[in-house]
Amino acid sequence: MIDGTFHIHHGDCIEHMATMEAASMDMAVFSPPFPSLYAYTSEASDIGNSEDLGGDARLHLGFFYRQLARIVKPGRVVCVHVCQIPRMKRTGGVGLCDFRGLNIRLGERSGLVYEYDWLIHKNPQAQAIRTKSRELQFSGLEADRAKTRGSLGDYIIKFRAPGDNEVPIRGEGGVSRNEWIAWAEASWTDIRETDTLNVKAGRGEDDTKHICPLQLGVIDRLVRLFSNPNEIVFSPFTGIGSEGYVAVKHGRRFYGCELKDEYHRAAIENLEKAVAYSEDQMALFAGGAT
Ligand SMILES: C[S@@+](CC[C@H](N)C(=O)[O-])C[C@H]1O[C@@H](n2cnc3c(N)ncnc32)[C@H](O)[C@@H]1O
Repeated sequence: MIDGTFHIHHGDCIEHMATMEAASMDMAVFSPPFPSLYAYTSEASDIGNSEDLGGDARLHLGFFYRQLARIVKPGRVVCVHVCQIPRMKRTGGVGLCDFRGLNIRLGERSGLVYEYDWLIHKNPQAQAIRTKSRELQFSGLEADRAKTRGSLGDYIIKFRAPGDNEVPIRGEGGVSRNEWIAWAEASWTDIRETDTLNVKAGRGEDDTKHICPLQLGVIDRLVRLFSNPNEIVFSPFTGIGSEGYVAVKHGRRFYGCELKDEYHRAAIENLEKAVAYSEDQMALFAGGAT
């Protein structure tokens, strides 16, 4: 499946996943495009272009989850990073759309077993400034508190593919007891929002919106918890390659798909940096060991 340390398919993941071997991926970790919030490309296969969460997005994601459940090895872990989505006021929407719930339902329908979700803390002041949402701002508080709410956190949904895990995840390069004490908390409050790869390299000239890369600290925990060294980590929505970058730095291999030219190119550059880093580490280790 992979010649070398990583491969990133350039194109629609849903079509591509249908061509991938069953039970070929050891772990998956990704952020699906959040429909209505962000459109990354003008292509119909870009799920970010679906304005209708009940219709198009559900249909695309339904196909997507069916393929995902097929290609992940039995008993292995799928981590999905999502947030709840405010409905668009300009089209008459009110309240929140339950994107987390949609992903859980579609994952379960495809046969994945929903096991858990972690909440990732988001700073309300920073979110109020960034999103300009009245529900969070002091002006909203002063105008009518009935309409206020707290910040919208991120969630990591943990699924497992049905069946028995043939290769336990344990041992070498693992997770210490102290790390587990911290990471087993239901909410992760120590993730820095700015701890991401640089997005500039992936920007297209006609972009109106830009990518929200997943925090490297989140990926670090998930890759170390749920994969063994040298296994294949899969991100069907690779973006600029954050999941792959961390996976390769931890001595895993990476398989991805990305639709947008600029992101695909940026992801390859980022993965090449991670390969160079892990080769340096190995050389250092070999030098120190003699
Ligand atoms: C939320 S971003 C992922 C960001 C990624 N986690 C990172 O940290 O770089 C979603 C990505 O999915 C891509 N995308 C949208 N629809 C796609 C599809 N059908 N196949 C492959 N990629 C797609 C978008 O171009 C975007 O880069």
